[in-house]
Order: sequence, then structure tokens, then C-alpha cells
Amino acid sequence: MSLISPEDLKSLRNALGLTAEEAAATIGVKERTWQSYETSIGQPSHRTIKMSSLQIFCERRGVPFPPVSNDGRLLVNGCKVISITTLKGGVGKSPITVNVATELATRGKRVAIISSDIVYKCFVEEEAKLYGEFDTKGRLVHYFSAEDVLLYSAEVHDLEYELSVKLSEASAKHSEDPKSMYGYLMAKIEKKRNAPYTMVGLTADYDYILLDLNKDLYKTLLLSNIIAIILDNDCLMSIWAAERFHEEIIKLNGGESVPHMYSLLTNHAPGGDGREYLEYTDQEDEKAAEARKEVIDFYQHQSMVYASARKIKVPMLRTFLTKAHAMETEKYNRDRGFWDRYGYFDSLIEIAPDSLASDEIRRLTDELIDCISKEYSAVPRSYA
Ligand SMILES: Nc1ncnc2c1ncn2[C@@H]1O[C@H](COP(=O)(O)OP(=O)(O)OP(=O)(O)O)[C@@H](O)[C@H]1O
Ligand SMILES: [Mg+2]
Repeated sequence: MSLISPEDLKSLRNALGLTAEEAAATIGVKERTWQSYETSIGQPSHRTIKMSSLQIFCERRGVPFPPVSNDGRLLVNGCKVISITTLKGGVGKSPITVNVATELATRGKRVAIISSDIVYKCFVEEEAKLYGEFDTKGRLVHYFSAEDVLLYSAEVHDLEYELSVKLSEASAKHSEDPKSMYGYLMAKIEKKRNAPYTMVGLTADYDYILLDLNKDLYKTLLLSNIIAIILDNDCLMSIWAAERFHEEIIKLNGGESVPHMYSLLTNHAPGGDGREYLEYTDQEDEKAAEARKEVIDFYQHQSMVYASARKIKVPMLRTFLTKAHAMETEKYNRDRGFWDRYGYFDSLIEIAPDSLASDEIRRLTDELIDCISKEYSAVPRSYA
């Protein structure tokens, strides 16, 4: 039995604006085969589309699976955009983003990252020096520089407006040579005007796009289907930064709450219960007492940060990340030179697939997908 009738399959294809040839190419079959899926049951040339092919078709075309609801409606949807972010620097936005993207790609999804990260830029420059150019599509995950993507159609207009405000402020202050002061912005506008990619185009080409747009709250809000704000359990400042991020996003959203925003606890490591120290250390030994104190202090610090994290008014994902990543990257980096160490494009999924750290990423990926699916009815949004 098929999950979709031939008539509904044809309607689904039409709703997606696809020719039979394009639909067939999505799942790697001949146009004639696709047409046989659309031929009415009872006709000699009818064939039933396999459930696995239908599932791949739905995933690639951003349609919920199964694509027909219980009450017979066709469910049509688009590419999912994920942001794992916060206002605090250095808390793992980029490595966690790359890890989730790699996990999705290993599941057969078409995945891209759009990045404005400085470390990413350094690696791109390094690769360009070595090989003459940076190969955007040369890895399992495809990488695009945010400068090369027109993220929304009014982006150039907004940048021009920003420039005009800056120039008029500078001229009011009689600043010297404002044009060279804002040359960087002019160059950015020029680059965006000639951007080789558009977000709309990329959403048609990928199943998932992850954004690594440092601190760009406006674009994060505009483009994301899900936002996960990082709460680093080691760092109280990261909790304050998350709180601020939340407030700013709500302001940008005209005071309305943002239902597709979640928080993600990382570096969670309560340090065991310290019992080992109580049992095996010499109570008289000064060093042992110091070590015990360290364990207890660390536990108390993690508890205090966690208690603050719980107060943030953003639902916390059930998945949390521990410090398991640190040992795995440490092991990987041992005996490696600077450029060979764990870098922007690396992932735990590739260097330590059987580790707890990778399984945490898999759980996180599952949960993010679940959260997005929950939003299906609310997801369709315009990038215009
Ligand atoms: N799975 C993970 N969970 C938590 N932290 C991680 C994970 N993987 C890597 N990290 C840590 O994240 C730290 C910070 O990385 P990085 O400085 O690239 O973060 P970032 O938030 O992207 O920084 P920036 O603000 O400069 O873009 C690394 O030192 C690494 O230990
Ligand atoms: Mg980063």
C-alpha cells in the first residue's frame, strides 16, 4: 500500500512547481518511471512509488513525511534553517554548528553553512593560498561566506541606508575623509550587489542551512526556522549573554515572543559526586584536601551557573552537551601542527564517531529536527 495516491502525488509535484523530469531527478529515477507513479491505479503502466523513495523526495523537497495529512491535505514546506548562536564569543557556536551540519550530511541530507566567522575566513584564506581557490562545495557540508550570499532581497538597500546614516553623521561632526572611513562598508555593498548566491536560491538547493552569523540578531531572526541559544555551564557570563540575546530578539520581533527559540546547555560537567576523593584520599594530606576542595568548588560553580541558566525564559532543550568534546579534540590535536589541529571544518562525527561527544551531537540533531517538525504549520516564511 502506498502512502500517497497517484493523484495526490501529481498535485504535490504541481504544488512544488516541479516538472515530472525534475521530480524524477530528485530521487534519481527516469521521467517515465515518475510518470508511472502518477498513473491511476488500475492502468497497466501504473507503478507504486516506494515508501523510501517518497521519504527521500519529501526530505529533499522540504515536505513533511508522509506528505498527506490524516484529513487528506497536502503538506508542502521548504528548507530548514538552523542557528546555534548567542551574543557571547568563544562558547562553541561554530564547532557545534559544524558538528550538527556534519551529522545531518552523514544522514544523506544536503547541508550548507553560511558563515561570517573570522576563524572560517582564516581557514578559507589558507585553503585559497594552498590550492588557488576555496572549494565551497568540496566537503560533505558546503560552506558559503555570508559576504557571498544575498541573505534577503532588501539587504543591499539596508546596507546603503546604514552607509548614508553613517556618512551624514560623519559630515555633521566634520570628520575628515568619511568616505575612506566607511570604505569597508562601500566594499561590502559592492560585494553584496554582485553576490554569486542568494538565500532563496540556496534554500531550493539544500535540505538544511545552518547559519554561523556572529551576533547578527536581525538576520538570525529573519531567516531561522529554529534558534538554539548556547548556555555554557562553565561560564556565568554566557548566561547573561543569552539573557540579553533573548531580550534583543524579542525587541526585534516587535515585543512578540519567538516560539522557535530554545536554549542549549553545553560544557555540563558536574565532576562526578567527588566520592572518589572522599574514599581514596588521605584525610591528613594537605594536597588531598586541596584537591577535594577543588572538586567541591567546581561542582558548586557548575550548580550556580546551572541555576541561573534555568531561570532564562527560553525552553531548554532536553539534550545537553558535556565536556566530552574536549578530550576528543585534545587526543586529535596531540602531535599535530597548527594548521592540522582541529579546525573550523572538523567535526567530532568524523574524528571520533564512536565517542560520547558524537552521540551527544546526534541527540542534539534529533531534537532540533523534532522541534522544527513541531513547527511545520508555522514555518513557511518569506525571505523577500
Ligand atoms: N561540542 C562542543 N560542546 C561545547 N563546546 C565545544 C564543543 N566543541 C567545541 N567546543 C568548544 O568551543 C570552544 C570555542 O570555540 P570557538 O571559539 O570557535 O567558539 P565560537 O562561539 O564560535 O567563537 P566566536 O565567537 O569567536 O565565533 C572551543 O575551545 C571548544 O573547546
Ligand atoms: Mg565562531
